[in-house]
Amino acid sequence: MRSVCEDMNTTPLPRIRVEDVSLGYGSSLVQQGVSFDIPSGEIFAIVGDSGAGKSTLLKAMVGLIPAASGRVLFDGVSLDERMRDGAPPFGILFQNGALWSSMTLLENIMAPMELQDHATPAARPALARFKLALVGLADDGHRYPASLSGGMRKRAALARALALDQSVLFLDEPSAGLDPLTSRRLDALVLSLRDGLGITVVLVTHELASLYSIADRMIFLDGDAHRPVALGRPAELAHSATSEKVREFLAVRAPQVTAA
Ligand SMILES: Nc1ncnc2c1ncn2[C@@H]1O[C@H](COP(=O)(O)OP(=O)(O)OP(=O)(O)O)[C@@H](O)[C@H]1O
Ligand SMILES: [Mg+2]
Repeated sequence: MRSVCEDMNTTPLPRIRVEDVSLGYGSSLVQQGVSFDIPSGEIFAIVGDSGAGKSTLLKAMVGLIPAASGRVLFDGVSLDERMRDGAPPFGILFQNGALWSSMTLLENIMAPMELQDHATPAARPALARFKLALVGLADDGHRYPASLSGGMRKRAALARALALDQSVLFLDEPSAGLDPLTSRRLDALVLSLRDGLGITVVLVTHELASLYSIADRMIFLDGDAHRPVALGRPAELAHSATSEKVREFLAVRAPQVTAA
């Protein structure tokens, strides 16, 4: 489907556009005036105080909750219209997202294919094995989630989020509960999925290491002001953000070790 905007303009449409979105529950507004574009293939981070509305924004971007106002567009087409046209092209890893414990990893990845009637039944096992191979779990398809480490479970959940060949991936704090080394490996995996498959990634995180190592750009949602206060490259915002809160957040680093 082509939009009017695409016909009139030769510059590529952003993969995702968030346009003057306000978010809230009942009468209380969590965030207002949220606007940004994400070009195809970018790793875009949503950052902010705890309770600022990061998960709420992510849920609104995938249509799980309605925005109080504003709209979200994918390739110039509104999310509502995309939903009417069939399964939208994105995978989601929720903040507390878990695998189905009574299924093997292969079954976990084939389940969305069955639900969405994706590929032929005969082709699904091979496709599921391919997804597991993408995340380094080629030999673990027969295992149940309970027998895996936390990092392996996260990787399997990533494979499931890509089960339908999605080209946009939404990740809500994927490193939560992982040790720092496993977190860095997960960052490397997300980076390799972007580089290898060209997928666009929207990542909620509070980890500076992830921000600096894989995020191309970030938005900072201020939980006190109830609006975004910074948008740009993490390393640049660390110096140039007008919000002191953002500069402080981005400046917190591990202490330097000096020789005695
Ligand atoms: N289902 C809900 N009903 C009512 N209020 C909610 C609901 N979900 C979240 N909230 C409130 O909305 C605000 C934003 O919540 P959200 O989970 O989006 O924050 P967050 O930035 O993701 O926080 P965290 O960093 O702790 O994950 C919070 O004040 C929260 O209490
Ligand atoms: Mg959250």
